[in-house]
Amino acid sequence: MEYPKFNRVPASDFHGIPSFVEDEPYVSAFGLQWLKHAKTQLDSHTGLNITRDRLLRMFGPLSADLNGKVILEAGCGAGRFTEILLENSSLITAVDLSVAVLANRENNGQKSNLRIARASITELPFEKEQFDIVFCPGVVQHTPNPSISIAELYKHVKPGGWLVFDQYRYNLSSMLKVTWIARLILKRLTPEHGLAVTDWLVKLWLPAHRRVAGHRLVEILLFRISPITSHYAGYSKMSESDQIAWARLNTHDNLTDFHKHYTTIKSLKRNVSKLGAINQYFCVMPYTIEVRCQKPDGNEKESNLAAPVTIKLRGSKIVSG
Ligand SMILES: C[S@@+](CC[C@H](N)C(=O)[O-])C[C@H]1O[C@@H](n2cnc3c(N)ncnc32)[C@H](O)[C@@H]1O
Repeated sequence: MEYPKFNRVPASDFHGIPSFVEDEPYVSAFGLQWLKHAKTQLDSHTGLNITRDRLLRMFGPLSADLNGKVILEAGCGAGRFTEILLENSSLITAVDLSVAVLANRENNGQKSNLRIARASITELPFEKEQFDIVFCPGVVQHTPNPSISIAELYKHVKPGGWLVFDQYRYNLSSMLKVTWIARLILKRLTPEHGLAVTDWLVKLWLPAHRRVAGHRLVEILLFRISPITSHYAGYSKMSESDQIAWARLNTHDNLTDFHKHYTTIKSLKRNVSKLGAINQYFCVMPYTIEVRCQKPDGNEKESNLAAPVTIKLRGSKIVSG
């Protein structure tokens, strides 16, 4: 088992990490966020299984057989998923367009089965069809054109391999929220000022979220008017200091992302089908749609070509199959 070779020379050496990009056109706020919150979302830091559960759900049956796999993690951020992937004896290549690669190296760089590079999904520095699994959680909605990003990621999947990703979905509550106005203003600030403003918003609003925690109806009403993200309802077992750190991180993430493209299940199915993917699986979550699909290798049996499977999850409850 070998890492797929880079197919071009890095444009520069970024603090010891090969960089295939000259600048970071729209991800500087993300970069700052991940340097500031390098450990916040690691399961090894929270002591919870938040990232592990999400990865296992997205990988489904693939998670049982990750040893010996060559995996590309695209848009790795500070490496909370990298940390879980590294538990297997697979070879992980983690890339991100932003300076977040430094945070991932700080968190996971000591592992011998990890290679980190700075690169964009739309100009990946590898020959096509080199990876058994291409994994891209929480990223394509933040790229200029998610359909192009999905198609680029798919090109790097080996025949018989898998593409696993997700994208924000249209959701009435996110469309109604005041966050749209906050985003318009924050997008015009420098990353440092943006971070200062979102930290201040959390300081102002989090006490209200804490007070109504557990009162579902009041919480829903508060979410209508509050610009911040809080996790008292979702992750009630998290310590108070982590609640504050997660609120800061995710409020910043939610209010300063330059691109935010929502999708529908119909549009994702069309995208993935256009690529010729088989064994399509879609899981509709409250705010995202998770997708798993396979690149045909020409040996598939007819049953593999079955209609896409769609699951709708609300919390842990399956509402329709
Ligand atoms: C919301 S963060 C998610 C990070 C990580 N996947 C996680 O779930 O913790 C989105 C990440 O995608 C990266 N990103 C955005 N556009 C990218 C692109 N074209 N190529 C590579 N990474 C990109 C950003 O720099 C950022 O680190």
